[in-house]
Amino acid sequence: MTRPDPSTLPQRFIPTDSMAAILSAVLIFLAACLPSTLKAEPSEPLAPDTMRARVAACTHCHGASGRAGPDGFYPRIAGKPAAYLLAQLVSFRDGGRTYEPMRHLLEGLPDDYLGEIAQYFADTHLPYSAPALTNLPAAMRETGRTLSESGVAARGLPACAACHGTSFSGMEPHIPGLLGLPRDYIAAQLGSWRTGLRHAVQPDCMAEVAGLLTPQEIAAVSAWLAARPVEEPYVAAPAGSLPLPIECGPASSAERKP
Ligand code: HEC
Ligand code: HEC
Repeated sequence: MTRPDPSTLPQRFIPTDSMAAILSAVLIFLAACLPSTLKAEPSEPLAPDTMRARVAACTHCHGASGRAGPDGFYPRIAGKPAAYLLAQLVSFRDGGRTYEPMRHLLEGLPDDYLGEIAQYFADTHLPYSAPALTNLPAAMRETGRTLSESGVAARGLPACAACHGTSFSGMEPHIPGLLGLPRDYIAAQLGSWRTGLRHAVQPDCMAEVAGLLTPQEIAAVSAWLAARPVEEPYVAAPAGSLPLPIECGPASSAERKP
């Protein structure tokens, strides 16, 4: 019989304790957000362990039920494919995307917990409002339309529609829709891919696409997409229904290399 080593005991408990501390910090944060959620939808009582209570901190920025925030900065998350949303949460947590308030919120949370949150928002289908942006200058409209619908074969630039679908509603499981997003958000994401601030699972096809776009083209395609009204039903195409012109990384977050 080997002698029990007393030093292993406290060590074994350290991860559990710090995990509990993280979880209780998150719970305290979420609890602090409860009153605003209750005020938003007063008819339904909110038990502390419901999903809506869990995501109260999220909807604080992302808008009621993840519809989108009030300005051009917070993207809508409701109705996007679950695997895409999970990949983004993992990415913010692990450094593939950089946004400190979200990293802080997601720090230490396990993948399956994030998966439940992703599924909740994926299953939330809400109507889209009319685009805030309309009247684009003719040249900008034409460049935006060409890039979105046709691409530029001579430069090896596929149409956005080739992967995001002809109605730009995305494809299951990990290609998001492009409509109903603020122009500034789209432009910022393309810029982040170009400068290496945003990473997706390798091979990162969006880094390749964004790398081929000029700043003027990014402005045009972002404006064109943001000005396009959403036609219902706006749902992601079934998995495998679009033959991708460039390989895009697997949905599996386990293969992510931030
Ligand atoms: C402090 C405000 C804030 C909070 C709180 C917040 N987010 Fe975000 N979220 C943002 C911003 C801003 C972005 C865009 C960041 C960027 O530029 O990449 C974002 C991006 C995202 C994205 C990526 C969207 C896409 O289409 O790629 C997802 C998914 C997301 N948030 C989910 C959540 C969830 C779930 C929570 C709660 C656990 C949460 N967020 C809490 C502000 C917030
Ligand atoms: C080869 C396939 C492919 C092409 C072509 C493509 N995309 Fe993407 N796009 C993707 C994939 C895959 C993702 C999800 C990446 C991830 O997991 O973060 C994505 C994500 C995005 C996002 C992030 C959305 C969000 O909510 O944060 C934007 C914006 C985007 N694409 C814009 C474009 C634009 C604009 C074009 C055309 C100029 C384009 N894409 C062409 C595959 C493609």
